[in-house]
Amino acid sequence: MHNTTNNEQTEQIERIERLKQEKNAIVLAHNYERAEVRAVADVVGGSSGLTRAANNTSADMIIVCGVDFMAEMASVLNSDKKVITPVQNVICPLARRLSRNDLNMAKKENPGAEVLLYMNSLADTIAMADCVCTAANAIPIAGAMGGDSPIIFGPDYGVTYYLRKRTEKEIITLSANGFCPVHHTILPADMIHAQELHPAAQVVAHPECRPEVQDRADYIGSTSGIARFCKESAETEFLVAADVGLSTMLRNEAPDKTFYPISEATICERMKAPTLAKVEEALVTERFQVTVPKEIADAARIPIERMLELS
Ligand code: 13P
Ligand code: SF4
Repeated sequence: MHNTTNNEQTEQIERIERLKQEKNAIVLAHNYERAEVRAVADVVGGSSGLTRAANNTSADMIIVCGVDFMAEMASVLNSDKKVITPVQNVICPLARRLSRNDLNMAKKENPGAEVLLYMNSLADTIAMADCVCTAANAIPIAGAMGGDSPIIFGPDYGVTYYLRKRTEKEIITLSANGFCPVHHTILPADMIHAQELHPAAQVVAHPECRPEVQDRADYIGSTSGIARFCKESAETEFLVAADVGLSTMLRNEAPDKTFYPISEATICERMKAPTLAKVEEALVTERFQVTVPKEIADAARIPIERMLELS
């Protein structure tokens, strides 16, 4: 029975690879995607790495296994290509937090400030920003922006805290700021409990985590930053404050080390929506194409390209 399943999956992967070749398509997958989906991806990474891949590709079709703002980003950078998602409308609630009205109000209240948006934002708000950033590059980007001008930053409260602690720049918090419902499930009490069980472990955390969780971490970084840190570290045991999938990925990529998710409940179900069957279906049917209206795409391309230049 197990062998049949393995054979079916091997055949499915072969069909996906053939379709990719026939259609000159690439698959981009975020680090939080299912293992089997990451296995058929041409590029696996955090939002920063996926942006660079989307900017550099010569493929005619891009299958984005991630959430809505990642697919929009790929479409903004590739308006002449087909950008397709295996599942329609995989929403990152954080990316829908800010409205154009919120940004207009903040700009009016703070003339002279520049707007830096966390990439977990939709294209219509990114179109109003001076620059975007991800967890991987928020600090250097804030440092490289706008001389002494204050920076309006949003929409994530955890990343705002992370940035505030590590930059000299004046950071203006948007009153409409929100948080990631997944990383917020990790509570300081979970962390204390995990540290009691594994006192020698290094604690690594994503900056979307609560400030009290960040304050207990030995390293804070993006999904790819956490992966790099753990692999390069001389330490062998890690408590991971991020989606459980990151611990699973690291167990495979660094089998001589031990990874414990701080909370088994920390799962971004949205990132797990694409399956191998849905990736194959996307390549065959080409439905769920993501397009961004030209005026918005043209404006949103500027802050995204600025991030790529500055990082
Ligand atoms: P990274 O940019 O660190 O990959 O994070 C994106 C994200 O949405 C994690 O919740
Ligand atoms: Fe959005 Fe949080 Fe899921 Fe990342 S983990 S995609 S911020 S809901």
